[in-house]
Amino acid sequence: MSLDEKLKQLDRMRHEALLGGGKDRIDAQHEKGKLTARERIDLLLDKNSFEEFDMFVTHRSSDFGLADKKILGDGVVAGCGMIEGRKVFVFSQDFTVFGGSLSHAHAEKICKIMNMAMKVGAPVIGLNDSGGARIQEGVVSLGGYADIFLLNTLASGVVPQISIILGPCAGGAVYSPAITDFTIMVKNTSYMFVTGPNVVKTVTHEVVTSEELGGAVTHATKSGVAHFACNNEADALTVLRKLLGYMPQNNLEDPPFMPTDDPFDREDDALNTIVPENPNKSYDMKEVIAKIVDDGEFLEVHADFATNIIVGFARLGGRSIGIIANQPAVLAGCLDIKSSRKGARFIRFCDAFNIPILTFEDVPGFLPGTDQEHGGIIMQGAKLLYAYCEATVPKVTVITRKAYGGAYDVMNSKHVRGDMNYAWPTAEIAVMGPKGAVEIIFKKEISTAENPETAVEQKTEEYREKFANPFIAASRGYIDDIIEPKTTRPRLIRAFQMLETKKDTNPAKKHGNIPL
Ligand code: HXC
Repeated sequence: MSLDEKLKQLDRMRHEALLGGGKDRIDAQHEKGKLTARERIDLLLDKNSFEEFDMFVTHRSSDFGLADKKILGDGVVAGCGMIEGRKVFVFSQDFTVFGGSLSHAHAEKICKIMNMAMKVGAPVIGLNDSGGARIQEGVVSLGGYADIFLLNTLASGVVPQISIILGPCAGGAVYSPAITDFTIMVKNTSYMFVTGPNVVKTVTHEVVTSEELGGAVTHATKSGVAHFACNNEADALTVLRKLLGYMPQNNLEDPPFMPTDDPFDREDDALNTIVPENPNKSYDMKEVIAKIVDDGEFLEVHADFATNIIVGFARLGGRSIGIIANQPAVLAGCLDIKSSRKGARFIRFCDAFNIPILTFEDVPGFLPGTDQEHGGIIMQGAKLLYAYCEATVPKVTVITRKAYGGAYDVMNSKHVRGDMNYAWPTAEIAVMGPKGAVEIIFKKEISTAENPETAVEQKTEEYREKFANPFIAASRGYIDDIIEPKTTRPRLIRAFQMLETKKDTNPAKKHGNIPL
């Protein structure tokens, strides 16, 4: 065959590979409101930046008539490309080919880009749309999944890994996204579950739809498995591009600097009045965040899950930061099982990838109750504490109001290596809230008082005067400075600038044993 003929053959093969499962299946995909694997890659990556690998790979099975059913690429498009000029590795499962199911060859393609991403030091993005293990291949396919899980685990903390779920993701297949750093789902067209509605019905007699059992909203609000629930595929890909903008390429690099026109010395008078005088009244901590960060831009993660804590990314003076904040507008901002888990995982991501951590604190304590105790709040709350303790990135705290009890210690106090700890003058730092404290320490006086109610009021006021302020903590150096709220942005920018060259380490060990 001449070179010309060979090139023609190559062209034909490329054309065939680009068609995946063929026109009818592509149409069916579109009818479901879904894009094809390649259309997704086109939307995700910078124009003309995609370098594809393994376009001609096929499966090696012969059982169940598969010998003469080979499709080039074998149900996954994989390669390397650019997002905002930064390198990423990506695989995109092609539902038009064997339902995107995972053969051993398909798994090998995914593993190849993951290995390459780790060597090169660039994020891995997985676009999942798959019927799961290629049933005809049996254990060989299961082995392929396990190969991916192992690499997900080895890559964890080395390069950022992000999963987008754009169709089915069921059975053991869910565990790859679960190990990755962030999971983005699309409402009504994607679902994740270990066992589907039919099995659930057989075993527990519950009748439930796929969407209710494992749709985007379910996972973004109830389980926390999804960090983002988007309205459509294009939105999901946009979120991913934004998210990556806050991250470094790998654990040895810093996040990208993003110049801003927002003045570094900008003060905001509204912050001086945002905390209500009545300590029982709430306010929205998201407003505080928006008034402080560059251009008011905050990419909230887990926006609808455990909303008593807020986590997400922003920039201060162009530098990427991870924010963890109590939300007094929900459950008074108390810590509970879900919010502790949510906060802990986010902190560990930031610490693994050199993203400084900013904490806004207004927390009355841990949520009481049998649900919480029996659900293991001790263990779950310890996760948050552990995550803060082990983090060595720059850590800055602003106590806006309440910092009570164990929650004071947990929320990046000086004692757990907070680098700069600020308090607004409205801060109340004490072992417990005034009323509860008074009822314990003045129990006798109150029970023998002529008018117990007045006695409680009096003592509460005394206690509030004495303890419910930031001055005692500041006199010990537990608070580095008490700042006027409106000056928070310039103070934080200066603090993070100062901490830019911070170096801190933990004792050498194989790994710690976070209370899981
Ligand atoms: C081989 C599969 C497949 C699979 C789908 N297909 N899933 N082929 N292995 N796992 C094929 C179908 O035969 C069909 O081929 C084409 O893909 C499209 O599938 P449809 O069923 O027509 O599509 P749809 O109606 O949209 O339903 C999608 C689906 C369903 C819900 C995903 O296909 C399904 O339930 N598949 C099986 C899911 C499953 O049980 N997987 C194993 C999970 S356990 P043709 O040629 O007819 O168009 C698992 C273990 C992982 O994954 C273990 C890791 C530890």
